[in-house]
Amino acid sequence: MDTTATFWLPSSASTIANEVDGLFMFLVWMSTFFFVLIVAGTILFITKWRRKKGDVGRLDTGPAHNSWLEATWIVVPTLLVLVIFFWGFRTYMKMAVVPGNAMEVKVTGQKWFWSFTYPEGTATVNELVVPVDTPVKLLMSSQDVIHSFFVPSFRVKKDVLPNRYSVTWFEATQVGEYHLFCAEYCGTKHSEMIGTVRVLSDSDYKAWEEEAMFSGEGMSMAEYGERLYTSKACVTCHSVDGSPGNGPTWQGIWGHNQPMTDGSSVTVDENYVRESILNPKAKIVAGYQPVMPTYQGLLSDKEIDALVAYIKEVGGGGE
Ligand code: CUA
Repeated sequence: MDTTATFWLPSSASTIANEVDGLFMFLVWMSTFFFVLIVAGTILFITKWRRKKGDVGRLDTGPAHNSWLEATWIVVPTLLVLVIFFWGFRTYMKMAVVPGNAMEVKVTGQKWFWSFTYPEGTATVNELVVPVDTPVKLLMSSQDVIHSFFVPSFRVKKDVLPNRYSVTWFEATQVGEYHLFCAEYCGTKHSEMIGTVRVLSDSDYKAWEEEAMFSGEGMSMAEYGERLYTSKACVTCHSVDGSPGNGPTWQGIWGHNQPMTDGSSVTVDENYVRESILNPKAKIVAGYQPVMPTYQGLLSDKEIDALVAYIKEVGGGGE
């Protein structure tokens, strides 16, 4: 099977993709066939049998009944609908029933990013990393509004709801990187709620797992914090060189008084940084929107300590 993207469809990189495409193409071509047939018939009839001058009374002279014709237009559509039903039902069941040996990843959607927690307890942000040829079950929930987890190349899309779990699964068949979108309008930055699914070979996945379990052995806290700055996606919104972003730059902030939206000001120290990571909406720096998600549950105490150390270093507080 061809798995590369075409003009019509994205690449197909999961076990279910070709089946979904097959059903979809069947529906498209069947609809096209009947559309052409009906439009052509309509044009034929209105030209061939249109009322001409002096045609009075001709409408009453044709045949009034044809049992074979009636049986045909009842039986053919009924058969087609049954084919679509059973085909669709079979594919739906395959997509709905998670294989028993699937690896389980917890997916959390919140305004406006995705986070993933793996069986070993590690977590990633906006990047789902999975091994190839392995069924992966996604146990999904939202911290706020309805989001929707959508990976076009896997033909997988499922709403992610607050206060209850939804479940979907896929088995990737191609090593590579695939787009992940939020497919449910969820606020101002809905269009930026995008991520990547990275599919790795078995050995690369094992190496990644070890790397993800790494907790800074042999590094200084600030060096470890610098790694986390990238791997936990702080870099998406906070620069360390003074350039503007969705959040304040970390350059030179250590020990400074930051003006807040409510008119007060706060000295940037360990406790303020820790609070901003775990409860970002507690204090909002003037000129910024309260858009930072909480990292509660996504960072260990040691990781928070390391980030504090790194902010201290780039913020001008280190030595
Ligand atoms: Cu989340 Cu749209």
